[in-house]
Amino acid sequence: MNNFIFQNPTKLVFGKGQIKKLADLLPDSINLMLTFGGGSVTRNGVYDQVKEALRGRNFIEFWGIEPNPRVETLRKAIELGRENNINYLLAVGGGSVLDGSKLIAAGIADETDAWEIVKRGVANKQIPFASVMTVPATGSEMNGGAVISRQETLEKYGFFGNYPRFSILDPEVTYSLSDYQIACGLADAFTHVLEQYLTTPGQSRIMDRWAEGVLLSIKEIAPGIREKPKDYELMADYMLAATLALNDFIRMGVTQDWATHQIGHELTALHGITHGHSLAIVMPGTLRVLKEQKKEKLMQYGERIFGITEGTKAERVDKAIEMTEQFYRSLGLTTRLPEEGIGKEAIDTIATRFNERGVAYGENGNVNGDVTREILLSCL
Ligand code: NZQ
Ligand code: ZN
Repeated sequence: MNNFIFQNPTKLVFGKGQIKKLADLLPDSINLMLTFGGGSVTRNGVYDQVKEALRGRNFIEFWGIEPNPRVETLRKAIELGRENNINYLLAVGGGSVLDGSKLIAAGIADETDAWEIVKRGVANKQIPFASVMTVPATGSEMNGGAVISRQETLEKYGFFGNYPRFSILDPEVTYSLSDYQIACGLADAFTHVLEQYLTTPGQSRIMDRWAEGVLLSIKEIAPGIREKPKDYELMADYMLAATLALNDFIRMGVTQDWATHQIGHELTALHGITHGHSLAIVMPGTLRVLKEQKKEKLMQYGERIFGITEGTKAERVDKAIEMTEQFYRSLGLTTRLPEEGIGKEAIDTIATRFNERGVAYGENGNVNGDVTREILLSCL
């Protein structure tokens, strides 16, 4: 086990009707700005619940943070926040609204241009922020990460900073999600675990078992959710699984991968593929290309998650990869680039971008542009 420091300060407020708690959770005497996406919250009643909970308080609103939030939009929110001396943000929406708000929080507190903060990878200062989370997927509600896009250059990068002060998760707000959004959310959460688990063997039994618990839970609830997307107990488990998949709990003292995410971000930035869907395409490719390096963990994963106990080592590894791809397909997602109209030219563009940036991802730092090309070619 590697050395680590763990501290997750987010207060998680979970369950039916919890949006009411906003009144108590938000401090008094703050200059509050609420941030929203494109309007789903007005259609599913979340906005009304928030307004009701905030009755008697003053606040301003910023609307229009798009999926894969763009720095161009967020700069406008930063300006509005500065003009109004805003010192606290409440994000009401999915991962995009919250990620965008993490950058707004940094942009208000820091004179640096918002894109410079993203490129730097770290927010040195942020005003406090909190969330009412409406999409189980990213874990943004209980982590310090945010991923921001720049439309002008079709780039998408993550940065790190503070955690939300609190996040309210009411599984009932997920009832309005489309089947596709749910599929992408489940794929995102499942992949978050794989990125922290399918790496170096033997680092921590506890982390392994914890990660496997989240994977098994997602695998177990996914078919039920497809049939009954308004089943409270299933959606509650889904929502909590998505939070636990990326709130630092399963990565104490273990190495992490994240190559699939970095490649997926390129597919989103260049071709607009929804985040979770991009991972369903790339993750099986990453495993196919890096199976030698990941074989011990793939064996363990195959046995403990998919019950693969027969065959040679190589056969079992291949079977585990195949079952992973099948799992994503069982959610209703495609897993091959041509199914999304993406071909060889796009692969070259991404490989060239990585080589030009001089980046190399993965637990061994060996996923450079050339390995990325191989990964994407194996997704054709
Ligand atoms: O904009 P509105 O109108 O609100 O509609 C949204 C949006 O169109 C809609 N929606 C949200 N809640 C809903 C709803 N529709 C019906 N019912 C509800 N309850 O869903 C659409 C997608 O929302 P979005 O916020 O984009 O989804 P998600 O939560 O999956 O966030 C994706 C973003 O998070 C980043 C991704 O890269 C992507 O930009 N990620 C953030 C991470 C983090 N902060 O740690 C980690 C992840 O790996 C990921 O990269
Ligand atoms: Zn993700």
